[in-house]
Amino acid sequence: TDPAMIRNFCIIAHIDHGKSTLADRMLEVTGVVEKRQMRAQYLDRMDIERERGITIKSQNVRLPWAGVDKRGYTLHMIDTPGHVDFTYEVSRSLAACEGAVLLVDAAQGIEAQTLANLYLAMENDLTVIPVLNKIDLPAAQPERYAAEIAHILGCDPDSILRVSGKTGEGVEELLDQIVADIPAPVGDADAPARAMIFDSIYDIYRGVITYVRVVDGRISSRERIKMMSNGTTHELLELGVISPDPTPVMSLGVGEVGYLITGVKDVRQSRVGDTVTLLNRPAATPIGGYRDPKPMVYSGLYPVDGSEYPLLRDALDKLQLNDAALMWEPETSTALGFGFRCGFLGLLHMEIVRERLEREFDLTLISTAPNVVYRVVTDDGSELHVTNPSDWPEGKIAEVHEPVVKCTIIAPTEFTGAIMELCQSRRGNLQGMDYLSETRVELRYMMPLGEIIFDFFDSLKSRTRGYASLDYEEAGEQLSDLVKIDILLQGETVDAFSAIAHKDKAYAYGVRMTAKLRELIPRQQFEVPIQAAIGSRIIARETIRAIRKDVLAKCYGGDITRKRKLLEKQKEGKKKMKMVGRVEVPQDAFIAALSTD
Ligand code: GTP
Repeated sequence: TDPAMIRNFCIIAHIDHGKSTLADRMLEVTGVVEKRQMRAQYLDRMDIERERGITIKSQNVRLPWAGVDKRGYTLHMIDTPGHVDFTYEVSRSLAACEGAVLLVDAAQGIEAQTLANLYLAMENDLTVIPVLNKIDLPAAQPERYAAEIAHILGCDPDSILRVSGKTGEGVEELLDQIVADIPAPVGDADAPARAMIFDSIYDIYRGVITYVRVVDGRISSRERIKMMSNGTTHELLELGVISPDPTPVMSLGVGEVGYLITGVKDVRQSRVGDTVTLLNRPAATPIGGYRDPKPMVYSGLYPVDGSEYPLLRDALDKLQLNDAALMWEPETSTALGFGFRCGFLGLLHMEIVRERLEREFDLTLISTAPNVVYRVVTDDGSELHVTNPSDWPEGKIAEVHEPVVKCTIIAPTEFTGAIMELCQSRRGNLQGMDYLSETRVELRYMMPLGEIIFDFFDSLKSRTRGYASLDYEEAGEQLSDLVKIDILLQGETVDAFSAIAHKDKAYAYGVRMTAKLRELIPRQQFEVPIQAAIGSRIIARETIRAIRKDVLAKCYGGDITRKRKLLEKQKEGKKKMKMVGRVEVPQDAFIAALSTD
């Protein structure tokens, strides 16, 4: 294909603003998928994606479109994951495009992710086509939100397209505008081949399917390719384009988007952001911007039933084939037994992994409270990265650094006070504030990531009746006064409950956890103190009073079979008990204490 006839674009939007629905309509309008074959959200292949209505993995598709001049163009639509945990994947998808359709729900207006994605698109020098979607909704206010968009982009509000992904209204005009406004790709067709990997997925039948955008030169099928990040070479088993099913092609040239299959079985061998070149005539320098996925949030995952431990390990192994960002290593806990310490990109990533483990592998899991990575410098000058509270150094700590993020919150102005209060209570630092219109405000905060991963989003939603939207990005680290709090049962530390918190919040955590455990742990035959401690200093205490448990008391007289049954039952119940020192704790109590509400 002549690069002049190619247009590469993506759709960026806040969650639920209708990206997938619009993509579906584009497939239909261009005749790539027939109307009767259409099912909702054709491009979202994973079940969880369809059920939760979110796009986890990018998909891309080639769309033929005549254009106003009827010359016949090739459009590549690159579907980007919308969520903040996947910012790196979003930025790679954007780098594969020359333009972006900025989709805004005409009944909601601009939201935090709209802006975050817009900034990313601008950093990648993309041509942005703003579009108001869902104009069929009775609640749509296109005039009002066109003004908001025009204010931010500095364009004419009347030039903003209005479409409905549901009815298809305006979709053809949008495709024409994509051809007219978005620049054709430019690259050096004679240079050694360079293609950027913007997505790679694991398929059980074909192994890893790698999506690439060719920047320079040409990649032909049956050539040996080379990954520039690590120098590994692979035979090319298949090269193709998606339209909407995979279709093999002989070669891909400048500006073209397609997939390649090499037979590798693990997505970590074909990483997003890496540059593919040819072994015979390799390029000298890779396309910039590659980086290794870095976990930001850690949590312990344990099977409720200890015998499922090997199954959990197999499941994690399999998930990792599909998810280059998932990290894990074995860990043991006195309270929870054998499990794994897992690293995730963020909270959503963590939820998705857990849900997939439970759903696809039929496991029942307990997860410990999530924590971020702390950089601790001790008095003797050594430095360590703590991803688990139990690795917190005992000795003298000189400095603790914690990751911070830049948050963008957009909400109706009436909630400004409530949001500021919440952010301050989470150690946030106001960086700036802008009015998008008379009724909506954008607040920018610098905040510790550790405060966000702990039910911040839920609190924000409940204080703003669901109207606030949030996005955040990494912004380095800061020096903080952090301590480790231990929870002790009869003098024994229960490792699963240890937490790292700011000094000013340690007391509240201690009080909350000890009170919770007092409710959850049944009385024993002796008194059980529950304490919260920082080092050797006790900061909170509760006591479970002793009880003499007599299961036979309920049986009057000498009905021996009934007695036996009761004893049997008590034994049964004990199996689900964990011993912490001398104290018997039902496993349910651990699960309940670890849940956030
Ligand atoms: P994520 O992939 O989760 O970011 O969502 P999305 O942006 O792809 O949104 P999706 O297409 O799943 O649409 C979200 C909801 O809006 C769904 O319930 C759609 O049926 C609805 N919707 C999408 N487009 C339109 C539209 O043009 N009009 C109306 N009335 N509803 C729409």
